[in-house]
Amino acid sequence: MLKSKMSEALNKQINEELYSSYLYLSMSAYFDNMGLKGFANWMRIQAMEERDHAMKLFDYLLSQGSEVDLKEIKEPQHKWNGIKDVIEATLEHEQHITQCINDLVDIAEELKDRATYNFLQWYIDEQVEEEENAREILDKLELIGDSKDALFMLDKDLAQRVYTPPITQA
Ligand code: FEO
Repeated sequence: MLKSKMSEALNKQINEELYSSYLYLSMSAYFDNMGLKGFANWMRIQAMEERDHAMKLFDYLLSQGSEVDLKEIKEPQHKWNGIKDVIEATLEHEQHITQCINDLVDIAEELKDRATYNFLQWYIDEQVEEEENAREILDKLELIGDSKDALFMLDKDLAQRVYTPPITQA
C-alpha cells in the first residue's frame, strides 16, 4: 500500500495525463479543420499515448492496493495562432509534464518509496522523448519558413506516425 502523499500525487498525475490527451485531441481537431491531416494524425496518436500514460498510473495504483480517485478534466484550449503556435504549446506542455514527473520522483525519494521511484523511471525516459519530438517538429517548421511545398512534405511525413499499443503483462 502506498503512503497517502504518494497515492494522491499519482492520482493527480492521472488527471494531468488525461488532460494532455484532451489537449492533443483538441489540437488534432484544429489541424484537421486546417486541412493538415498529417499533423492531425500525429496529434491524435499523441492523445492516445497520453491515455496510455494515464492508464499505466491507474494500473500501478491498483497493483499497490491504492485507491484510484478520478477527478474532473479541465476543458482544453480550442484555438491557436497557427501551426507553430500549436507546436510551441505542445513543447511547453511537455516541459510542464516533465516538471510534474520530477516532482513525483522527489516525493518518492522523500518517502523512501523505492517501488514508485523505480516505476517512475519509465516516465523520466518518456519525457525526454516527448520533449525531443515536439522540438524536432518545431525545428522543421523553422526550416520550412513560408514554403507551402515543404509544409506539405512535413504533413505527409507526420501522416506516417502509427499508434503502438503499450506492451501489457499477461
Ligand atoms: Fe504523458 Fe506527453 O506526457
